[in-house]
Amino acid sequence: MVELVIDNLVAGYGNVSVLHNVSIDVGEGQTVALLGTNGNGKSTLMRSITGLIKPTAGSITLRDEGTDIDLTLCSPREIVEHGVALVPEGRRLFPLLTVEDNLILGAYRREARDTLHDNLDFCFTLFPRLGERRTQQAGSMSGGEQQMLAVARALMSNPKLLLIDEPSVGLAPILVSQMIEKIGELRDSRGLTILMAEQNFNQAIKIANKGYIIVHGEIAFASKDATDLRENEMVKSYYLGA
Ligand SMILES: Nc1ncnc2c1ncn2[C@@H]1O[C@H](COP(=O)(O)OP(=O)(O)OP(=O)(O)O)[C@@H](O)[C@H]1O
Ligand SMILES: [Mg+2]
Repeated sequence: MVELVIDNLVAGYGNVSVLHNVSIDVGEGQTVALLGTNGNGKSTLMRSITGLIKPTAGSITLRDEGTDIDLTLCSPREIVEHGVALVPEGRRLFPLLTVEDNLILGAYRREARDTLHDNLDFCFTLFPRLGERRTQQAGSMSGGEQQMLAVARALMSNPKLLLIDEPSVGLAPILVSQMIEKIGELRDSRGLTILMAEQNFNQAIKIANKGYIIVHGEIAFASKDATDLRENEMVKSYYLGA
């Protein structure tokens, strides 16, 4: 299992910095919620971890069985090879390709090629709906089905660290609950370390081991554990209007 340690990260776009000294820690096998409303920097943090934008200061360390890998020095491709997978905001599927072809494309990580068939079986067991629709064009599936496919495609790379950018967005409440439950199951069955950006606080706390609230690119609150997240006054006032 891996741990993700982000220390004093500064990142943004061009001359505009969006993240200001962000420090977070996702322990081995933990699911950590990154909570924040629109435009506060959740996706920017996800893009920094996956190497899509280069931070201007700070460090992002993937600790893999005692070996530290500084992800800020790696290309996006190398980061994938180190076992980091992102379920991006907006899903980014290949709409004209079938469900199965989208999944196969998720297995481009070198280490994942040998286990492609086992991983396909795993995804179809996790989300039976995808198995029933393996030959359907991804773009013609419902929003909920596309979100399942986006998560499954990330799993096809045999990740150690799974980053999920707003799994619940655009889904009906019942599907949100199901998706959150599946993510919780994955952590337990695959020993994954998970960082999940969410706006849906009530759903996120069902599975989170702890959480952070990001406001204007700064960590405004870091919880010690799940109880602390659930019961903290600042969290309540921020999310529940109490
Ligand atoms: N490509 C870009 N170029 C310039 N600014 C950007 C770019 N992408 C995002 N930003 C800005 O960075 C800030 C943080 O955006 P980000 O997408 O990280 O927020 P978010 O928390 O993911 O929001 P949402 O919940 O709406 O997805 C915003 O002010 C946004 O306008
Ligand atoms: Mg976002």
